[in-house]
Amino acid sequence: MKRISVFSRKFGPLDKKFALKALRNNWISSNGPFSKKLENFIKREFKTDYVSLVSSGTSALECALKAINLKKGDEVIVPAFTIVSCLNTILKFGAKPIIVDVKKETWLPSLDEILSKISKKTKAIIVVHIFGNVLNIPDLKKKISNKIKIIEDCAEAPFAKFKKKYVGTLGDLGTFSFYANKTITSGEGGMVITRNKNFHKIIEKYKNLYFGDKNLKRFDHEDIGFNFRMTDLQAAVAYSQAINAKKNILKMKKNVILYKKYLDKKSIEFQKIDNHVQNVWWMIAFVMKNKKSDDLIRFLNKKNIDSRKLFKPLNDLKYIKGKKQKCPNSKYLYDHGLYIPSGFDLTNNQIKRVSKACNEFFKKR
Ligand SMILES: Cc1ncc(COP(=O)(O)O)c(C=O)c1O
Repeated sequence: MKRISVFSRKFGPLDKKFALKALRNNWISSNGPFSKKLENFIKREFKTDYVSLVSSGTSALECALKAINLKKGDEVIVPAFTIVSCLNTILKFGAKPIIVDVKKETWLPSLDEILSKISKKTKAIIVVHIFGNVLNIPDLKKKISNKIKIIEDCAEAPFAKFKKKYVGTLGDLGTFSFYANKTITSGEGGMVITRNKNFHKIIEKYKNLYFGDKNLKRFDHEDIGFNFRMTDLQAAVAYSQAINAKKNILKMKKNVILYKKYLDKKSIEFQKIDNHVQNVWWMIAFVMKNKKSDDLIRFLNKKNIDSRKLFKPLNDLKYIKGKKQKCPNSKYLYDHGLYIPSGFDLTNNQIKRVSKACNEFFKKR
């Protein structure tokens, strides 16, 4: 039987039309017409003032941390249950990550857990809207000093909302990834959105080697910067993907409805979505109460079905030294959670086949 991959996507006529147009016109490096179109689309859609297109979700996080002037000795609160990019970018600035556990049900940290870790050195909180669920940022904001900046990592949650407001616009800066398995993709890519002009100015410089402003001063670089630029060819694809994003979000919702119909729900728990949250589904993931994800992944693999484990808790990574904060819930999600095939264009039969295989595994002793 044909293998079902964990994620795949088809590129449509609009993606191809825009990519070809970029190629035909030689719009291959950054800041071309498609970049402008994409930036304006995002500004309108998200009701935000500034958009910086960058090369990945990881570089978007790094740019956001540069914008807030993160320095050695500063502390940044970050969840244990997330991608390693959140951790490594903090470490790159010589700052200290303060890792917090998440709740077993929502896969997000509780506000109390975050608040208990705030110190005089806290410079920022990276809020990760993990697997499309959204943290209550308005309540968090009420309880912290406005000197502490909130960076929302929206890589897995574009178009998710809290009380009708899009993620990425609730805190000080929102970062996004356009990696191949993300709602909007350009293969690789990302962006940072903000309403803060100064943050935007810094990001635009940092992502472009901190070139000097004027022609004659061009090579008089003002600070250390990197090449985190997105090409216009990528922006062409990301733009058409952004136009179609809501259709893909709906396709994913339909897949979830079918999985929930076919899977034996007694054996598993889906992520609990908090009040006031309009979530999006990034990948279709669940946790098994009494079984280990490694075993199901092996079982599915034998049936030619792809699946993936969830994130290993950041505090358990080998290179994190010193006294470690225990994060038992994140460990539980790592040991018992996984995501199953989640492509936008899965057929009813494919979803049935995956569900049947999972149910067969749940019955095993
Ligand atoms: C929550 C989160 N943040 C950041 C990233 C990093 O994005 P990229 O792979 O584009 O660097 C990812 C990627 O999977 C992610 O899931």
